[in-house]
Amino acid sequence: MTQTYTPTSSQIPTVGNDAIEILINDHQRIKALLKELTDGGEGQRSSTLEALKEILTVHNSTEENLVYPAIQEIAGRKMHAQGLYHETADANVALWQLSMMWPQDETFKATATKTRDAIEKHISSEEESEFPKLRESADAAQHQKLTAEVKKFRNRFH
Ligand SMILES: [Fe+2]
Repeated sequence: MTQTYTPTSSQIPTVGNDAIEILINDHQRIKALLKELTDGGEGQRSSTLEALKEILTVHNSTEENLVYPAIQEIAGRKMHAQGLYHETADANVALWQLSMMWPQDETFKATATKTRDAIEKHISSEEESEFPKLRESADAAQHQKLTAEVKKFRNRFH
């Protein structure tokens, strides 16, 4: 089940029947915010960046603490898990650099577009490669455990 989010909504819902669905629903919201950042007006840039940083803090820490370890240990994809971890770190730096810029800076849009493309590529590797591999490798008990852990972890942020 995927859901379309209103980009300006500040809530970070936990939507989905299992861990992977929850993360894919986050991705929908992250992509909507990235589009708003690159295509929206200068006046919205600061608030969109804040909303992006907020959801990425929750989303990335869910993945880094629970899902990338599962990709490494259950799916046996150590190098890929490590690669994803590096990419979230790069995205954090890029967002920090954007938040240090004036929204009116003439290079803002180009920097935001580069950041959007990198995050979208990262999301595609998760959705098209690593998440399906995790889904295939995990047995029912491992899926249930991961979903329970993801829900519990995210409750800490509410
Ligand atoms: Fe993700």
